[in-house]
Amino acid sequence: MNHFLAPTDLTHAEREAVLNRAIELKALKRPLDRTTLRVGALFFNASLRTRISFEKAAEVIGGTCLTLNTGSDTYKMEMDPEAAMNADTQENIVEAAGVLGRMFDIIGVRSFPTGQAWEIEKTEPILRAFAEHSGVPVVSLEGALHHPCQGLADHLTMKEHFGETKKLKVAMTWAPHPKPLPMAVPNSFALQSALAGCDLTIVRPEGYDLDPEVMASIESESAAAGGSVEVTSNRDLGLEGAKVVYVKSWGRMDHPGQSADASLADWTFGDSAWEMTDQAKVMHCLPVRRNVVISSSILDSDRSIVLDEAENRLWAQAGLLDHISKGVQK
Ligand code: CP
Repeated sequence: MNHFLAPTDLTHAEREAVLNRAIELKALKRPLDRTTLRVGALFFNASLRTRISFEKAAEVIGGTCLTLNTGSDTYKMEMDPEAAMNADTQENIVEAAGVLGRMFDIIGVRSFPTGQAWEIEKTEPILRAFAEHSGVPVVSLEGALHHPCQGLADHLTMKEHFGETKKLKVAMTWAPHPKPLPMAVPNSFALQSALAGCDLTIVRPEGYDLDPEVMASIESESAAAGGSVEVTSNRDLGLEGAKVVYVKSWGRMDHPGQSADASLADWTFGDSAWEMTDQAKVMHCLPVRRNVVISSSILDSDRSIVLDEAENRLWAQAGLLDHISKGVQK
């Protein structure tokens, strides 16, 4: 089954084909009219970009997409297949996934961390249950460990702006935020940059390391693609010479739930930090908290490419759905 739950679920050749198809579809500027692809999307959490871009991506390749929000549009779902359901959950994930699999050719699911231990969260239990019980390909629309569609769009955006991504100097820099955010976006961006062969520097305060297994994967994929990976807490040094700066906040693995210390407030990415780079283009997955994560002066200037990045969610997913649909169209 052709699931897409992590950036590494596409081979190098498939990734290139998806990105090239995305570029073709973007240039075409009209929907294809040859498919009857039925796409379903299920959101356990809020979304602006992912929801709209996934629906539009299905439309671009000539299909349809129906989106459901759990809670308001569905029964309260039980995640444990073995549970005795005598409390407030009304439908088990086994039947919910099975029913959606009878209605759709491909299913997208968004499920943020649910507050369980990280060793459980990182296995993406909800996404994997849909992959196991739906009988159709499942696309992660962001889980606890990865946001692979965001990663693909980020790769497409760097390809568009710089052409060649191999040895492109990229800095992913941590930023403050009032809440300890999940790590799916930084994990996927760093892994996708490694797959793209970038020279990646992860710039973060001490204590904000990514998951060691994710780091091992980033390092091995980077070596295979001819790139490099460095990690530093020296922000000036880490940003020096960067052509791309990816700004993102994330929480500490060793203190989940703990907000960032006020002493890290000067990690907001603003003009003085940008001066350290090589005229870098600034990326962020959005939504972004202005003047906490990135200064308005950067976001409102042509240094920012966050809207290109958001638009490319649509085109990257259109390329991905087109690729997956080849194996599922009835
Ligand atoms: N970047 C992103 O996934 O945005 P949404 O949360 O709005 O979908």
